[in-house]
Amino acid sequence: MDVDIRPVTAEEWPEYIRVEHIPFGVQVSDEEMKVQSQRYGAWNSIAAFEEGRVVATAGDWDMDLTVPGPREVHAPGVTAVGVLPTHRRRGLMTALMRRQLDDFRGRGEAVATLLAAESVIYGRFGYGWATTSAAAELERAHGVFVDSLGQRAPLRLVDKTEAAKVLPDIFDQVRRVQPGEISRPDGWWHQFIRDPEWARDEGGSELFHVVCHDGADAGYASYRLEHGWPDNIPGYTMRVNQLAASSPTVRAALWRYCLDVDLVATVRFENIPTNEPMRWRLRDPRRLRTRTVSDFLWVRLIDVARALEARRYRVADRVVLQVVDAFLPENEGRYELDAGPDGARCRRTNADPDVTLPVAALGSAYLGGVALTALAQAGRVEETRPGGLARADLLFGAADPPFCSTDF
Ligand SMILES: CC(C)(COP(=O)(O)OP(=O)(O)OC[C@H]1O[C@@H](n2cnc3c(N)ncnc32)[C@H](O)[C@@H]1OP(=O)(O)O)[C@@H](O)C(=O)NCCC(=O)NCCS
Repeated sequence: MDVDIRPVTAEEWPEYIRVEHIPFGVQVSDEEMKVQSQRYGAWNSIAAFEEGRVVATAGDWDMDLTVPGPREVHAPGVTAVGVLPTHRRRGLMTALMRRQLDDFRGRGEAVATLLAAESVIYGRFGYGWATTSAAAELERAHGVFVDSLGQRAPLRLVDKTEAAKVLPDIFDQVRRVQPGEISRPDGWWHQFIRDPEWARDEGGSELFHVVCHDGADAGYASYRLEHGWPDNIPGYTMRVNQLAASSPTVRAALWRYCLDVDLVATVRFENIPTNEPMRWRLRDPRRLRTRTVSDFLWVRLIDVARALEARRYRVADRVVLQVVDAFLPENEGRYELDAGPDGARCRRTNADPDVTLPVAALGSAYLGGVALTALAQAGRVEETRPGGLARADLLFGAADPPFCSTDF
């Protein structure tokens, strides 16, 4: 049967929304559809149509990615990828990915990002796992710091209306200097603040938002509570969905808040960096038990030269990379990267390569989240000139691992 892949019109948007949710096991209610119907254009949407009906969906948010420097590069955030269970494994996602990457190239994009429902899905399209997130849990009784915080920065619980006003600016301040973070469009915030019950993966209360201001610095935590009174003893679980802070002082104040709420027995931080500094502030750090370490943001270099020029590098050096890109062959070739802390120049070359690697591996190393040496040990990268890997690692490395906190 013929399938047509094309952008979605405003009239087709409700059907797109309905189909987009089915692969994720969500049936959109009439009431929810009324809200979603007004969101046409929140992101760019394309779909596969069979006999005029939507059978598969994809889209992309208009976002900026913070890269080492820190600097920003415009990077569409791929979202809403789904294929009806009746149409799976016929190549529809592949067709959507092909169309989407062609569109991105046409729009002049250098980089794209996504979060993967399953880590097996997107490597074949040249996306590489680029940031890592951890979920960790602590019994509140063990949440004691090694030091007292002294004069505390003031904290304020805000309702949805105020959260919608203050959280976006605070997050913007944080994400602009954190490689791996991405900007959040209005449509993203709208859905986050609205916090519909069906979108809460593991249930729990509506989100509470607590805000902290400390001079020019600021931060917030957004969390849910799961109620529990086992044997008449308070045993709530707090699930911290978001915690963003522009300074260590604000971060510590927000952690302290989360670890001090009465009736809570367990605090679960759902998305923290693997090198979370607060772990080192706990008197009994082993009690912060890491439950999950997982891939989070995936990065795809669409225009290798422009993407590599967009970031800054740890040392000054010149390396030649041979990039293999089966899905986007126009990207393939040898690139000379002449780069340092103050700037980068990347040009096609015929010189012998220091390192040969698939574009997905370059996407993984792009934000400094993994060493190329580690990828070589995993058989994903090849050193083609002695010493080439070590030099490339010095160049691409980051002082801190990149981190992304935006679920999209
Ligand atoms: C993931 C999903 C979009 C794949 O769509 P699809 O149209 O079946 O994918 P394709 O037919 O284009 O598959 C292309 C290749 O990827 C493989 N593949 C696709 N999804 C896979 C999965 N979940 N696990 C393992 N392999 C997968 C296919 O087997 C195929 O491999 P092949 O080329 O070696 O035969 C679809 O299964 C889906 O909607 N899943 C639920 C929602 C979801 O996870 N969406 C992704 C959100 S990030």
